[in-house]
Order: sequence, then structure tokens, then C-alpha cells
Amino acid sequence: MMSSVGTYLIKDKEVCKTIVAQSLRTGYRLIDTAAVYQNEEYIGEVIENLREFGLKREDVFIITKLNPSDQGRGTARTKVLESIAKLRTPYVDLVLIHWPGTVGLDHKDPKNAELRKGSYEDLEDLHAEGLIKSIGVSNYTAKHMEELLNHCKVVPAVNQVEFHPLLYQKELCEYSEGKGVVIQAYSSLGGVEGWKVLSINQTLVKVAQKYQKSVAQILLKWGLQHNVCVIPKTSRVENLRPNFDLLDFEISTEDMSTIDSLNANKHFNSDPNTVL
Ligand SMILES: NC(=O)c1ccc[n+]([C@@H]2O[C@H](COP(=O)([O-])OP(=O)(O)OC[C@H]3O[C@@H](n4cnc5c(N)ncnc54)[C@H](OP(=O)(O)O)[C@@H]3O)[C@@H](O)[C@H]2O)c1
Repeated sequence: MMSSVGTYLIKDKEVCKTIVAQSLRTGYRLIDTAAVYQNEEYIGEVIENLREFGLKREDVFIITKLNPSDQGRGTARTKVLESIAKLRTPYVDLVLIHWPGTVGLDHKDPKNAELRKGSYEDLEDLHAEGLIKSIGVSNYTAKHMEELLNHCKVVPAVNQVEFHPLLYQKELCEYSEGKGVVIQAYSSLGGVEGWKVLSINQTLVKVAQKYQKSVAQILLKWGLQHNVCVIPKTSRVENLRPNFDLLDFEISTEDMSTIDSLNANKHFNSDPNTVL
């Protein structure tokens, strides 16, 4: 599995460029960004100079996401083309619909479904034109997925969702596996708020001590052993190496079950179940 770095909340140009550059030097090959992160241009400056890292464009996998303000047929196309231009690349490897709803609409408004369908159709066109290599979604529940699978021509490659021991989305994972959709975890460490909770969770602290790893490494490995991709975010260079070094240990089945049992259906980010 390709090592991946997330860039949410990294809005400072120099911090962003340093983290992305250092992640490539460390061996990360997947960069996750989004129009709403407001850092696509900075990442583009690194991508334009991949040769400095001894890399070619095809060595790196770039994900971006459609801003939830820009949903709908026509608008999505225009905005994704803007993202591609900012990223200074002829194509993006994966574009996700960031959120099933549209900013400004009530979560219960039926127009949400119409708009996300229009966005997906635009992504299918861009995919057919070779400007985006694969299409995906984010924060889609099984209900949103069912609706999408009923109309899509291209099955989404990925559903990127909040996933950590307090939100172990077991049913969604099983459902997605059955449909051939890869689950990509975000907020594997809980995000800013969740990390404050998870980093001192005594069950996780004890497992970490047992394996002589950090709680962050246990959280990432737990995700990987559940066959989900992880895209940990850090704005601190010193965290890149430990978040990358996850291959020299294996959490036992028993310890995996212990961590699984922490599930509390706790969202630290917005809960997409509220979106019609
Ligand atoms: N699709 C979506 O709706 C969505 C939503 C949220 C996030 N995402 C994506 O998923 C990525 C990750 O999720 P996230 O941003 O919520 O954060 P996360 O990966 O759960 O990380 C949470 C916090 O942990 C800290 N951290 C990272 N590595 C650490 C380590 N080794 N030791 C101690 N602390 C560490 C980071 O703070 P420092 O910066 O101080 O290191 C970070 O703020 C994002 O960057 C973004 O690309 C997607």
C-alpha cells in the first residue's frame, strides 16, 4: 500500500511545501489535498519540480476534492479544471466529491441529491477525457452509495471517510468491499480534537507500550490491518518518519479486537448521516 500524507489545515505556504517535499524524500507517494484546503497551488509548486526528488509525475498519486460549495453539473467541471491548473499537472489521479451535501442548502433539502449527481456526471466526463484518472467520493454513507451506484457509469474507486477506533465503520467497510470500493480513512488519529482524546486513551496507550510504538503508530497500523488506506496529516516534519514506519510490526488479532471494541460511533467531524 502506498504511503500517504494528508494536508488539511496546512495553509501556510512554506509549511505546506516543506511537509510535501519532506514527505516525498521520506518515501510517501500519495498526497491528499482538496479545494477547500486552499493549498493546491503550493502543492503544485512541488509537483512541478518532482525531478528534484528523482521522481516522475507517474510516481506520485495526487488526490483532490470538489469544494462542497461547487456541486452541480457544469460548476463541478469548471472547479475541478481550476484545481488541476493549480496543481500544475496535466491530470489528477483521483478526484473526490468532498461531501454529499452542498454548502448553503439545508441537509434535508432533496436538491442535495440532484446536485451531487450532477457533480458525479461532470467527473465521469473528465474521467473519459483523461483529465482525472479515477473518480471517488468522500463522506458517503451506505445510503448515498446505493443512490450513486444506481446511476453511475463509472463505479467510484474510493470512499474517503472518518475512520478511527471510536468510529469503526465496520458495516460501511463490509458494504464497500462487496461493491469493490476502497475505503480510505481520514482522521485516523481523530483529527485535531480526536487526537486529544485518543492519544490518552488508556487501552491504546497500553497497546502502544506492549509493541513499543507510539499511540499514533498503533492507530495507523490498526487502520491498515483493516485494509483501509490511511492519510495521516502532520505539519511537523519530525512526525513524517514515524507515521511512515509501520511495516516492522503487526498488531495481534486479540489486540485488534480490543481496539475494535472501543467503537462508540463518535464523529469528530461532521456526521454525513444527516445529509439527505
Ligand atoms: N474527506 C474529508 O472530509 C476529510 C476530513 C478531514 C481530513 N481529511 C484528510 O485526512 C487527512 C488526515 O486527517 P486529519 O487532518 O483529520 O488528521 P489526523 O491524521 O487524524 O491527525 C490529527 C493530528 O495528529 C497530529 N499528529 C500527526 N502525526 C502525529 C504523530 N506521529 N504524533 C503526534 N501527533 C501527530 C497532527 O498534528 P500536527 O500537525 O501538530 O503534527 C494532526 O493535527 C487530512 O489532512 C486530509 O487530507 C479529509
